[in-house]
Amino acid sequence: MSREEGPIDWAAIPKVELHHHLEGAADPALICAMAQEKQINITGVFDERGHYKYADFPEFLKVYEAATSVLKTPVDYARLTRAVLEGAVDQGVIYLETFLSPDFCGGRDLSAWRDYLAAMQEVADDMADTITLRGIVTCIRHFGPDKAKQTALCAAETAGDFIVGYGMGGDETMGRPRDFAWGFDCAREAGLHLTAHAGEWGDAHMVRDTIDDLHVERIGHGVRAIEGPQLVEYLAASGIVLEVCPASNVALGLYPTLSAHPIARLRDAGVRVTISTDDPPFFHTNMGREYAALSKTFGWTPEDFAALNTTAIEAGFCDDTTREAIAKRLERP
Ligand code: ADE
Ligand code: ZN
Repeated sequence: MSREEGPIDWAAIPKVELHHHLEGAADPALICAMAQEKQINITGVFDERGHYKYADFPEFLKVYEAATSVLKTPVDYARLTRAVLEGAVDQGVIYLETFLSPDFCGGRDLSAWRDYLAAMQEVADDMADTITLRGIVTCIRHFGPDKAKQTALCAAETAGDFIVGYGMGGDETMGRPRDFAWGFDCAREAGLHLTAHAGEWGDAHMVRDTIDDLHVERIGHGVRAIEGPQLVEYLAASGIVLEVCPASNVALGLYPTLSAHPIARLRDAGVRVTISTDDPPFFHTNMGREYAALSKTFGWTPEDFAALNTTAIEAGFCDDTTREAIAKRLERP
């Protein structure tokens, strides 16, 4: 499509999204409605316009957990999953990997986790003609290594066609990657693919330690790798994929503007980057807005985004049959 043909409808481009937190994708209106229905007081979570309210990353994590506290049952998670998938479909997303946290789904109890998972998977199956959803069970770093072990056991016990990965989110300033190695080993032995947040609040050394100690195939964010030229070379040579979330990084103050964001420099250096929203309503973003902003700032065209989506589906944690089906849908929407 050339510019002469009129404005590009970025939402219409078929997309693959790899870095997405299910609770973080909850529309504030849904969380507010559920809080009212259940008579749960979550004052402080929203500003006067009904948006999520936080000043910095620690506060973001607190607000995230407070908002999530209204989601109490498998039925609540089914409702959330349906709303989130409908929103993703509106943005052209055809394949989505979402982070799921047994911490919030039954307090890491395996049989409770199975019930939550079944509820989410039923919705995903129901919508499978329009969007393919896969789950990455994710421990929460600031909850500590012992809880992360229990989370990894939930992941290992439910590994399969739907749960395809294990990961780690949360506060990267807490602990070192090796503190969480047991869970990553356990998940790998269960056949799960691995990713971890690193290089968002941690520096290039944190990214390198995460790769070396946890043996992940992808890094969540990873953008601060740009501060280590040798690491950038290593990432490019190894093919490790970065799940980059530009609007999230700007909203949380990692970079002052999108033009200061290193995604284009990383890509130009040969690093395999992909584009995701992380927690879209928290950052006033969605996949269409991400593409529009990247195009405006870096001059990226639909051809660039097609290449980025090819990288993303190659790096997807699904099986090869699913990967090939999604690759076909990307070619011929
Ligand atoms: N959990 C949800 N969003 C996150 C982020 N951007 N970084 C770390 N943990 C998160
Ligand atoms: Zn994230």
